[in-house]
Amino acid sequence: MKILVTGGAGYIASHTNVELLKEDYEVVVLDNLLNSVEESIHRVEALTGKEITFYQTDLLNEEAVDAIFRAEKFDAVIHFAGLKAVGESCRVPLLYFDNNLTGTINLLKCMDRYGVKKLVFSSSATVYGHAKEMPITEEAPLFAMNPYGRTKLIIEDMLRDIYASDNSWDIALLRYFNPIGAHESGDIGEDPNGIPNNLVPYIAKVAVGALDKIHVFGNDYDTPDGTGIRDYIHVVDLAIGHVKAIEKLSSNPGLVTYNLGTGVGYSVMDIIKNYEAACGKELPFVIDPRRPGDAAVCYSDASKAERELGWTAKRGIKEMCEDSWRWQSKNPQGYSK
Ligand code: WQD
Repeated sequence: MKILVTGGAGYIASHTNVELLKEDYEVVVLDNLLNSVEESIHRVEALTGKEITFYQTDLLNEEAVDAIFRAEKFDAVIHFAGLKAVGESCRVPLLYFDNNLTGTINLLKCMDRYGVKKLVFSSSATVYGHAKEMPITEEAPLFAMNPYGRTKLIIEDMLRDIYASDNSWDIALLRYFNPIGAHESGDIGEDPNGIPNNLVPYIAKVAVGALDKIHVFGNDYDTPDGTGIRDYIHVVDLAIGHVKAIEKLSSNPGLVTYNLGTGVGYSVMDIIKNYEAACGKELPFVIDPRRPGDAAVCYSDASKAERELGWTAKRGIKEMCEDSWRWQSKNPQGYSK
């Protein structure tokens, strides 16, 4: 089976490509390399010993995307491509609406035109907004907290409408919690541009000496140690969840939605302690004011994915931090030489 992976040079996509190639899927990557580098594709090819077809293309160029669909006979699409920085989305919402929504609409038009109607969509726990009840199930109310989250929710709504109008589509909406870690080889991993927005890549930069200290955003939350609690999931477990979702689509399930998380919450201080154990260093930190928009606690009920996909996260927080550290220490500058 031939799978189109949009945003395929990115962090979660590159780990997913490894798992797809291990299962003998043919992988075609479409990426504009705005937030990623082609080197990640070469690393995946080296890791797996298999080739990836790569098109450096922007989903905003519908003509170019159409030409790719005409040239390649895809069996399914995994759609990762999109801007994903919450803070940036608040500063430039129109850029996020154009890039994430117009790009997705162009992709869906090409899929429809060429009869490619199996789609795995990279959604996010952000569509739950500040969920009141923990753990969060797929039935929890949906609410966009920021323009980035709004694009994810709008795309989910578009896909629900498309399926309602034409149930020959098979669509899996995967709502990720907090992906961290890296492939055990240390050859691929998270390589954000500039100063990382997210906790673990920031800690990794402090551990490798690229940043001087960790800024803990608030220690006055109603949690055991006062710091924010999140459901961190190993990126390889997340990647395997995508392969399971592709397999699920072969049984023509229609539109299905799954949380991909561990169901376990860890605080910022828990993460710092686990990262110190992984890198063997004491990591300096300061307590800063809360970051606006942050929830105190967010973790998943991932039992539906276990029941219906036969998938569950297997890697614990120790392995997540060790694998993140191996990537960062082997690649202090990320993929750039
Ligand atoms: C985790 C915890 C912070 C940075 C975000 C997006 C979400 C999804 C995953 C795309 C929180 C604290 C963080 C730092 C800190 N992305 N923190 N110092 O905010 O849970 O989710 O990434 O889908 O859409 O919102 O992840 O890693 O930014 O924060 O103390 O330098 O770490 O307050 O408690 P978050 P995060």
